[in-house]
Amino acid sequence: MRSVPFYRHSLTHKDAEAMSEVLHGIFLTTGPRTRQIEQELAGYLGASFATGVTSCTTALYLTLLARGIGPGDEVITTPMTFIATANAVLHTGATPIFVDVEPTTGNIDPGQVEKAITDRTKAVIPVHLYGTMVDMRRLHDVCRRSGLYVIEDCAHALEAVRDDVRPGKLGDAACFSFYATKNVTCGEGGAIVTNDGELHDRLSWLRMHGMSKSAAERYTARYQHWDMIGLGYKANMNDLQAALLLSQLPRVEQQLERRETIGQRYEAAFRNIDSVGFPTIPAGARSARHLFTIWVPPERRDEILARLQERQVGVAVNYRAIHLLTYYRERFGFREGDFPNAERIGSSTIILPMYPGLYDEDVNAVIEAVRSVCEEVAWTTLKADDKAGTDRPCTSPL
Ligand SMILES: Cc1ncc(COP(=O)(O)O)c(C=O)c1O
Repeated sequence: MRSVPFYRHSLTHKDAEAMSEVLHGIFLTTGPRTRQIEQELAGYLGASFATGVTSCTTALYLTLLARGIGPGDEVITTPMTFIATANAVLHTGATPIFVDVEPTTGNIDPGQVEKAITDRTKAVIPVHLYGTMVDMRRLHDVCRRSGLYVIEDCAHALEAVRDDVRPGKLGDAACFSFYATKNVTCGEGGAIVTNDGELHDRLSWLRMHGMSKSAAERYTARYQHWDMIGLGYKANMNDLQAALLLSQLPRVEQQLERRETIGQRYEAAFRNIDSVGFPTIPAGARSARHLFTIWVPPERRDEILARLQERQVGVAVNYRAIHLLTYYRERFGFREGDFPNAERIGSSTIILPMYPGLYDEDVNAVIEAVRSVCEEVAWTTLKADDKAGTDRPCTSPL
């Protein structure tokens, strides 16, 4: 049986050398490589500025702080995301307000955002789930009318485009992750991309305790005193991380082509399996193809997941709806039924291997495993239903 790991990074010897060069220089922390990746990242996205930070979590948190969001404020976001999105809001003292998602994409529904706006709402955090962008033109209209900031969670969406809009074009800021499994990675890392020079200036001291000068500025010429000009946090990217990212950025488009080929092969195969659905990529959108998601009948999800693992296929669940996790339930009193689309997706989701290093044989093995497991499970469901005297077909949940 062919074993297909959930993820394998695509880093090369050249990437390792790029990092090792940094070790021969002075700046292990924020220095010339960080400045260079900031410029190249902004250039890749067609934006004016980027700020390198330690993670997408700190990117979101610092951007909220930079916009003055804190206790008493509300920030509208989606429950179909990684906890980092809403946790960043909680860390500022503001309250995350969840709204439901579109059933076909899993992305936040701009119509629901509009309904949730109150006098306390200050910002919206859309998450471009799996790599497919939220309808930013519609969301931007809604937010502009109410004077809300839009802070995009682009952890999945570096290469994404929708209706000619790239991440960061319509939002105030776009927050990226370079976590270990992301399309471009340095193990842990993040960045904030914006066209707003004032926001960029604030972020450059917010990521460094509020210090008015970086280490590079303090030590490369004559010593200069620094001041603390506000209360920031410690979240600056270092040059080792930056060197790894710089080395990968030139091949990001080529790797996306491979992701797209794999995504299309999965979709063609799963279209013919009744019990399997998958998210739609809307017309006019180019997905970053970060995660490949299938949706299976919720009552069978865990069994299908376990059987795929038995067949040596690496799987994950990104995500179960976060308002139903213990902390959020207990703190805010959320219950099942609050956000039905997010909940249905959360209990139907299985994430399959999706990375450029997958061989065609790996993709075939994953497809074959999904097909056989779904047949086995449909068969056992039918047998159980026969015994119970019911007639319950195994169909797609959505
Ligand atoms: C949608 C989403 N937002 C935020 C994050 C947080 O990213 P980081 O681990 O870089 O803080 C992740 C990480 O997986 C994510 O998937």
